[in-house]
Amino acid sequence: EPHSSFQNTVSSLSVDTQSLQKQIDELSTFSDTPAPSVTRILYSDKDVLARRFIKNLMGLSGLSVREDAIGNIFGRWEGYNPDLSAVGTGSHIDAIPYSGKYDGVVGVLGAIEAINVLKRSGFKPKRSLEVILFTSEEPTRFGISCLGSRLMAGSKALANALKTTVDGQNISFFDAAQSAGYTKDEGDLSSVFLEKGSYSAFVELHIEQGPILEDEGISIGIVTAIAAPASIKVDFEGNGGHAGAVLMPNRNDAGLAAAELALVVERHVLESGSIDTVGTVGILELHPGAINSIPSKSHLEIDTRDIDEERRNIVIEKIHQSAITIVSKRGVNLSKFKIVNQDPPALSDKSILEAMEASSKELNLTHKFMISRAYHDSLFMARVSPMGMIFIPCYKGYSHKPEEYASSQDISNGVKVLALTLAKLSLQ
Ligand code: GLV
Ligand code: MN
Ligand code: MN
Ligand code: MN
Repeated sequence: EPHSSFQNTVSSLSVDTQSLQKQIDELSTFSDTPAPSVTRILYSDKDVLARRFIKNLMGLSGLSVREDAIGNIFGRWEGYNPDLSAVGTGSHIDAIPYSGKYDGVVGVLGAIEAINVLKRSGFKPKRSLEVILFTSEEPTRFGISCLGSRLMAGSKALANALKTTVDGQNISFFDAAQSAGYTKDEGDLSSVFLEKGSYSAFVELHIEQGPILEDEGISIGIVTAIAAPASIKVDFEGNGGHAGAVLMPNRNDAGLAAAELALVVERHVLESGSIDTVGTVGILELHPGAINSIPSKSHLEIDTRDIDEERRNIVIEKIHQSAITIVSKRGVNLSKFKIVNQDPPALSDKSILEAMEASSKELNLTHKFMISRAYHDSLFMARVSPMGMIFIPCYKGYSHKPEEYASSQDISNGVKVLALTLAKLSLQ
């Protein structure tokens, strides 16, 4: 059996920082909005081109490439003991409207480069190493986050929901998937489910999306837990009418119900008393949307999160109760109050934490244990595999906006820690 001395491995890990930066820059050009913003929506033409770009790079790195029915992409480097479960790594390349070029991308291109780094060092993996590009981590198109990883983790609820899911243009999930070259057959979705034990470990590299590492001058964040996200869709229906002629006492304004609920979200979140509870109304739509017409319908989407699942669930319950109070006060209907997802938090695996910490130390990189306030595909991979995440600093903690930035040096550090962690886990 080949065996590797980690002392040799550590000193021979060299990242091709220039090529990696060039790839990040090139990938960012597959976008539906002008630079420096990036917009890359699931199954759009730009998404298909970006996927082709990634598959090509996987091929150039000698990985064997496979896609599942909804376009999760797997690039495998066969280990010398291929019957053992593989070690997985990866992230997403879809980008929310007007976002930046590092969210997710660093964990996909960085993972391919980590494989290159290990190959150049002469390392031979015992367990196979697999780079995964997850389909639609972002909820942009179909309102459901982590589509690919959620389905891989075996969510029958999602498989079922997708049968009737449409986007804002009323295009069905399956029509969209087919247009990108993936399945049009509902029955295929269960083929996406992973067998338990498919992976012995899963590790995701990602920008922090928060300011802590940069503020404290620390190179590597080792994620101990991922906060619990939930999202809710709400529709109010009232009576519309002429903005001049209908007098104030006679109105049932669905827009004001929505406005009131948005403020209530903030209030209930603050009542939790914890800085870790957050809530956002990022979508608020009024119908018919004319200045001289009283809104007859309104639509809100609420995102709320906490590291404490119970505390977050209390916030959701309070928001629901307030919605009921608002409709009775304003004489409107609550035509929808739908909890789209209410996910539990995930904890990182102890032996992966140890591997990430040992790797940081061996590479002489400062590190800090921290939680992830953003969600990631790792939240779902944790249901079917031991999980860990590596964070790198990003400029002012900016993310989900065009100013998002991570330095080549920080990315390179993250790739090295990822490479060494994968090497260790592959031999376990
Ligand atoms: C993912 O992008 C998140 O909103 O945390
Ligand atoms: Mn994101
Ligand atoms: Mn991300
Ligand atoms: Mn994310």
